[in-house]
Formats: sequence, structure tokens, C-alpha cells
Amino acid sequence: MSFKYSSHVPNPDNDATGQILAAAADPEVISFAGGLPDPALFPVKELKESADRVFDTKAAAALQYGSAAGIPQLREQVIDKFLKHRGIEGDLDNIVISTGSEQAIEQIAKMFVDEGDTVIVERPTYLCTIDAFTSFGANIIGVDMDEDGMKMDSLEEALKAHPEAKLIYTIPTFQNPTGRTMSVERRQEFVKLAEQYGVPILEDDPYGAIRYAGEEIPPLKHFDKTGNVIYMSSFSKILVPGIRLGFVVGEKDFIKNLVLMKQIADLHSDNFSQYMIADYLEHNDVYAHIKDISELYKGRFELMLHIIETEFPKGTHHSTPEGGMFIWVQVPGIEDTNKLFDACIANNVAFVPGEAFYAGVGEPGTMRLNFSNVDDETIKVGMKRLADAINGFLDKK
Ligand SMILES: Cc1ncc(COP(=O)(O)O)c(C=O)c1O
Repeated sequence: MSFKYSSHVPNPDNDATGQILAAAADPEVISFAGGLPDPALFPVKELKESADRVFDTKAAAALQYGSAAGIPQLREQVIDKFLKHRGIEGDLDNIVISTGSEQAIEQIAKMFVDEGDTVIVERPTYLCTIDAFTSFGANIIGVDMDEDGMKMDSLEEALKAHPEAKLIYTIPTFQNPTGRTMSVERRQEFVKLAEQYGVPILEDDPYGAIRYAGEEIPPLKHFDKTGNVIYMSSFSKILVPGIRLGFVVGEKDFIKNLVLMKQIADLHSDNFSQYMIADYLEHNDVYAHIKDISELYKGRFELMLHIIETEFPKGTHHSTPEGGMFIWVQVPGIEDTNKLFDACIANNVAFVPGEAFYAGVGEPGTMRLNFSNVDDETIKVGMKRLADAINGFLDKK
């Protein structure tokens, strides 16, 4: 039977990322390819206590259908625990609870993109966002970055060349895949520029809370006085990803439209989980928990960075993130990163080749390394394998 699918369905033969992750899943392989939080820090006991309380006191409401915007108790906790802390103003009608931030990306792509519409992103950027925009037929324009995030002169060029652009998608803090963070000055300039050209910003902030060095920087949304920035964040990296909850903050009119889209998609995010996370946030110090995560990742990050600096070929560039879960590395002299990937797999170690994070042609020799879900010993063994494979690959050329 051969079905006639719509153009939204990606071609499974082009699923390079799926193939990379499948190769990395071999138990013999030490993988720095994923982006998973360490389950050792999942607050299992506290979540179980919350689940028990919800079953004991709110079962009827938690197991019933709910509202598409999300339960008010969780939206209140979002305001109290996160928006106030991040300098973002808003009340309940400015928030939608999403089924992970992934759902929000997909729905916002659907809201803004008709076939052929232009969307501006960082170059490189989160690959699932590229996939989401591409599935709606977007023309994706990548804007170069430096260590301070998206370059504003390059963004202005892109906006001049594409005044019709529908949206600018950005991950300004501990970006995936580079780990880079946009400076405060640049954030202010960015918000002004987008406003001046009348193009909304979609700010994706799943990692911002996980900081292990430097000073906290407010999100772009903090500097937004006109409602041009849509902000989203998630519980995946600071609590657990399996529960699939995130939130979107925007102007009330935009939120009304997003609620309509969400009704079509899933009526509402899992009600029981929303009650459980709201209860967790009410009864626990989430910032103490985030501090534990940040401290664990800091040690792993420093160890990985040290090995890159001492064992990788001369001339290797790397980002130096102050938080998040990724280091971005560029090794000189590599023309085809996929061939390097094959050599690394043969040495039982994996990473994600950087090309996966570009909408168009990528930068050769780039790789994303994840350190959040590998312990110190595994980092030592795996990074030695990686350095050996890279050095051996370059020697053979
Ligand atoms: C930049 C970025 N946005 C969104 C997501 C999706 O996260 P969630 O688990 O909240 O759907 C991820 C997941 O890794 C991510 O890296």
C-alpha cells in the first residue's frame, strides 16, 4: 500500500540525524551525541510525593479534561518561580502550558509559516526547529554567530534582504548546539532591531537556568516593551523531560490564537502532570535543585574542556559556555565531518556532526559534544577515544 502523504511529512531517507543517533546508541559506543539530562538528578522522591498528594486531594480534577491554556495553578507557579525571577511581566492570560517546548515550536511554526515564507534563525541552530519550520515549507535564512551569539550586523543584512520574514527564532542563552550566550548589549539591540523591521522574535530558553559560571543575563523578553518577543521555556532540563511540559509567554492576543492551535493539536497538555509539577513547585525549592544540576554539569564541562584543550589537534576551536549542556568544537583540516564521524564510531565514540544544525551548507569539522549525561570516568575514556580517532583521521589524510 502506498499512501499519498502531504508535503509536511519529511523524507525518511533523509533522516541523517536518526542514523547518527542510531549509530551512537550501540552499547559499545560512548556517546556525546545526545542532549539528555542526567537521570541521577531527577527528583523522583519529591515528584512521587507530589503525585501522591494530587491523587489524594485533586484526583477528580487532575484526571478530568482541562483547559487548553493549562491549569491556573501551574501558570501561577510559572509566574512566581520563573517569570518574576527572569524579569518578565505577565499574568495568567499571557501563558500557555505546552506539551514540552517542542510542541510550542511546531505550533508556532504552523501559526506563522505558509509554504515559501521566510524564517530567520541562528547559524547553526537546534535541528528539530529546522525540521519543524521546514515541514511547513519555510525558507530558512541562517544568520552568522560569534561568541556573543547572533551577529547584529548580519541580522540586519538578513532583515534588509528579507523584509517579508515572518519570524526570527533564537536560543540566546547556552544555545543548542554551540553553548554560546548573547551579551546583554546585543540583546537590547536585537529587540530594537526586530521591532524596527516588524518581525517577531521567538525566544527559546530551555537551558538558561542551568548556569555554572558568570552572571545571570535577563532574557530578550525582559527588554521587550511592545510584545514583539514570544518567550518559551521548559521543565525538561531543570526537572524531567519525560513529563513533557513547557510554557509559552506572549501578548494576550497571540496567546488566544496559540490556545486555538493547541485545542486542535491535543485539547490540552496532560492534566495530571500539570497538577504534579504545580505541586512540586509549591512544596520544593526548585532553585536548590537547579543548583545541584548546575554543579554536577560544571565538573563534567570543565573535564571535557580540559581534554579538548590538551588532546585535540592544534588549531581546534571550541566554545566556552557558562551553562547548559553542550560544547561546540571545530577541528581544522576536516572536509567531511561525516567521514570523521564514521572513524569515531569505529573507535566506539560518537558526537553529532555540526552539519546537522545548519539549514543550508554547514561548517566542516564542527561537532556538538554533550556532557550532561556522562560521568567523569566515561568522559575521560570517551574523550581519549575521540581525540585518538580525530588525530588518526587527520594523520591518514
Ligand atoms: C533549543 C531546544 N528547544 C526545545 C527543545 C525541546 O525541549 P522539550 O523537552 O521542552 O520539548 C530542546 C530539546 O533538546 C532544545 O534543545
